[in-house]
Amino acid sequence: MSNSPTRILTAQPQDIRQAAALLQAGQLVAFPTETVYGLGADARQGEAVAALYAAKGRPSFNPLIAHVHSIEAAKRHVIWTETANKLAEAFWPGPLTLVLPLRDGHDISHLVTAGLETLGVRIPAHPAARALLSALDGPVAAPSANPSGRISPTTAAHVVAGLDGRIAAIVDDGPCGVGVESTIVGLSGVTPILLRPGGLAQEDIEAVLGHPLQLRDASDPLTAPGQLLSHYAPRAKVRLNVTTPDPAELYLGFGTMSCDLNLSDSADLVEAAANLFGHLHQLDAMDKPIAVAPIPEHGLGAAINDRLRRAAAPR
Ligand code: TXA
Ligand code: MG
Repeated sequence: MSNSPTRILTAQPQDIRQAAALLQAGQLVAFPTETVYGLGADARQGEAVAALYAAKGRPSFNPLIAHVHSIEAAKRHVIWTETANKLAEAFWPGPLTLVLPLRDGHDISHLVTAGLETLGVRIPAHPAARALLSALDGPVAAPSANPSGRISPTTAAHVVAGLDGRIAAIVDDGPCGVGVESTIVGLSGVTPILLRPGGLAQEDIEAVLGHPLQLRDASDPLTAPGQLLSHYAPRAKVRLNVTTPDPAELYLGFGTMSCDLNLSDSADLVEAAANLFGHLHQLDAMDKPIAVAPIPEHGLGAAINDRLRRAAAPR
């Protein structure tokens, strides 16, 4: 872990080179992706990955996603399949993580996979993330850049608030466009399985596959390692599906209504996803219980409701 102050870098080429050099040296660097800010460590360096778990306070049985710059790079680490190719061609770079069996000769630290025989990989779409991955020319393990269990960061300021002084640098390139983490699809079994709803709608994936995704069995830890129920949690108590908030509560709205903050007054789920974590950070700073309006379950609504259920879960 770094003891010196966290450096704020831009997405300019010389800063990206500096960020890549820090990763290469085993340091931790937060960077923007289109979903949320990630906290990066060189996925080949066990000590760097151990420092990453420590900086986040993350339980070490919760595996990390390896970020790569190309399909060719992904193929160095995992056993590639026809379905993987179909989904990667359709959605990479983008908010989709594929879980595939590790390949012989891969150089990913076993701390990244938390001892599993599979690896989650994705090519992020954010230009700063892609530039950083190209500059390093290696896999970057990156969970969301927040202390474990807290609200995910969609701005560099969120990262500073949670991790300042514990990481070497942050590449600041403004707010994230998608706003919720990647959708995770498991491809190591017979049928593709939706392991986590996220920034790519289930419906869009099924349209490319030509058949429905299998849904994960929440009671099977192997299909959802580390998907703890209480997660993305504000300090305050959170109530869901509220149409009449209590006067003591802050009201997070959706659609035309009177509320303290609105995820999307035009009831647009893409806009709501982009606003979700930022609005939760803002309401959390006001230190009062939070009531959330009902959000439809289709499209990105599935990911929004998944994160909200975790935010509201007992801890
Ligand atoms: O959008 C995202 O996915 C962001 C950005 C930074 O890329 N990253 C992210 O990472 O959300 P994290 O660590 O917060 O969530 C990764 C989740 C883990 O909770 C775990 O459940 C799942 O990915 N995962 C990783 N490797 C897996 C594996 N081999 N098998 C099953 N699930 C896995
Ligand atoms: Mg996370």
